[in-house]
Amino acid sequence: MAKPSRPAPKPSLRLLDPFKGVTSSTPPIWLMRQAGRYLPEYREVRAKAGGFLDLCYNPALAAEVTLQPIRRYGFDAAILFADILLVPDALGQGLRFAEGEGPLLDPITSASDLSRLQPSATRPKYALVAETVARLRQDLPKETALIGFCGAPWTVATYMVEGRGSKDHAAARFWAYRDREGFQKLIDILVETSIDYLGQQVKAGADVLQIFDTWAGVLPDDELDRWVVEPTKRIVEGIKASYPDVPIIGFPRGAGAAALWYVSETGVDGLGCDTTMPPYMMGETFQDEPVVVQGNLDPLLLVVGGDAMDERVDEILELMDGKRFIFNLGHGIVPQTPPENVARLVERVRGS
Ligand code: CP3
Repeated sequence: MAKPSRPAPKPSLRLLDPFKGVTSSTPPIWLMRQAGRYLPEYREVRAKAGGFLDLCYNPALAAEVTLQPIRRYGFDAAILFADILLVPDALGQGLRFAEGEGPLLDPITSASDLSRLQPSATRPKYALVAETVARLRQDLPKETALIGFCGAPWTVATYMVEGRGSKDHAAARFWAYRDREGFQKLIDILVETSIDYLGQQVKAGADVLQIFDTWAGVLPDDELDRWVVEPTKRIVEGIKASYPDVPIIGFPRGAGAAALWYVSETGVDGLGCDTTMPPYMMGETFQDEPVVVQGNLDPLLLVVGGDAMDERVDEILELMDGKRFIFNLGHGIVPQTPPENVARLVERVRGS
């Protein structure tokens, strides 16, 4: 069977260097949530779009807000503007973003609710996201990589089951303990549709993929294996079967010591490290693994800026000098971040 097509890889992407084993004392840099409310130009487009979802499903505007931080800061990568919750939305669960409340979904709480999800109906919405990717492929500078993404099944499931964000993700954890088979069916649906969704992003021009598992850290080890490691491994295998050369970064936030096992079991090419990962582990332990590490400045230090930020940035850079490393935050930029602090960070990392 012929391999699915994708645009020819760009020759000069610094973001890809560490994946090829090419290292430097000036690592590539991009930041999680680099597009968003901390930028006045984002708020302007967001107001014009109407709701947040209208923005995500408008390829011209979604491409525009993806480009905004690239114009300002010249990051080595752009991340597609979308959201991990577009997947349950495309499956037909019904998603809205209420002002000040975050995401709201009609909860799926048992196996009998799964019939509400329609994997075959995702096409039109996934196609809009793929169109954003295709536009970005045209409009991004040739040296800027494009990162496609999805949420990992576990993290997406926590929102689907709870119907909203929560602190302890108890609804999903209870279901997973009480009815393993039923919960596995939800995870299976998410694995399959995520492979389809990410594959469409690569086909449209994404250079690298990231799988966000924001709530991996709430699970005990055996549950983490079942609901984080196994599903991620299946997604990685599914993508690699068609696109073996597209690097995949996993971000199992809060996994702690289990991150090592996550790396060896899932086959990810990159590990997104959260703020709690000691940089010496990024610079030592993980360098024995065939993996690029990415992270992990505290986003709150980016709000504070100044010497406090510089000191930590220098510490990370020193420990990661010459290692397979991508500079990033340990979690997403927060809305109160002063844009000038981001400029200062980029200058510091680039040594300019
Ligand atoms: O610049 C980028 O990083 C690209 C776009 C992106 C968004 N969300 C845009 C967004 C990405 C990669 C995400 C990932 C995402 N979304 C995650 C995983 C990463 C993480 O931060 O842990 C999660 C858990 C979500 C779910 C989500 N989306 C929540 C809980 C919320 C509400 C809280 C919040 O941060 O506002 C969102 C909304 C959201 N997603 C916004 C943006 C820019 C804010 C919406 C607005 O403009 O009002």
